[in-house]
Amino acid sequence: MSDSVRIAPSLLSADFARLGEEVRAVIAAGADLIHFDVMDNHYVPNLTIGPQVCQAIKPYCTTQAASVPIDVHLMIKPVDAMIAMFAQAGAGIISFHPEASEHIDRSLQLIQSLGVRAGLVLNPATPLHCLDHVIDRLDLILLMSVNPGFGGQSFIESTLPKIEAVRRRIDASGRDIWLEVDGGVKSDNAARIGSAGADTLVAGSAIFNGGQYRQAIHAIRTQASAGRQARVTLQ
Ligand code: DX5
Ligand code: ZN
Repeated sequence: MSDSVRIAPSLLSADFARLGEEVRAVIAAGADLIHFDVMDNHYVPNLTIGPQVCQAIKPYCTTQAASVPIDVHLMIKPVDAMIAMFAQAGAGIISFHPEASEHIDRSLQLIQSLGVRAGLVLNPATPLHCLDHVIDRLDLILLMSVNPGFGGQSFIESTLPKIEAVRRRIDASGRDIWLEVDGGVKSDNAARIGSAGADTLVAGSAIFNGGQYRQAIHAIRTQASAGRQARVTLQ
């Protein structure tokens, strides 16, 4: 297992009146992915942004150096029609909650058939057995460390053993599945999150609220990478 950790700033805490500039700024500050939270006031009690906004920020995700994927986190129900629209709008990854699809395997196949990487998102109380029959289809597992719907919540500590358990499942699968953690991620818990086995960390308020994007991303990445390195050394 490599010790490099991807950082995905969540636009939920960005200035929505200047979204393109915010995307450019976090990419210049070292973002590996742009985390794009989609909420429908039905699956979660909040309402955010849709495929038109995804399409609008897409040109801001490409620099001379790289094209940074948009990591679309669907907190909506149902999901299939929106999957097609987000693929069309330029998503690089689309993940959804198993509770929000009547046919999880079909939704995963739909994402991949559109040339997009597919992820499943598990809420803090969602058991891991929902991974049992789909792990061979997954490119990403996103573990929520808060209940979805809002930025700025506190990290739920019981996520740490869950990260470890999912890491064991991924390693046993032999597949290159990213393990992303979302909610309440800060520089002061990133080492424990990395050490538990996460390789991709979403952070919204910890990056956008302080205004120092480069320092915030660097601090989270440094801590998480140190945690991952400690894990690798122990193995
Ligand atoms: C919550 C969203 C998260 C959120 C993270 O439903 O999925 O991506 O924006 O924000 P912070 O890092 O502030 O907890
Ligand atoms: Zn999210």
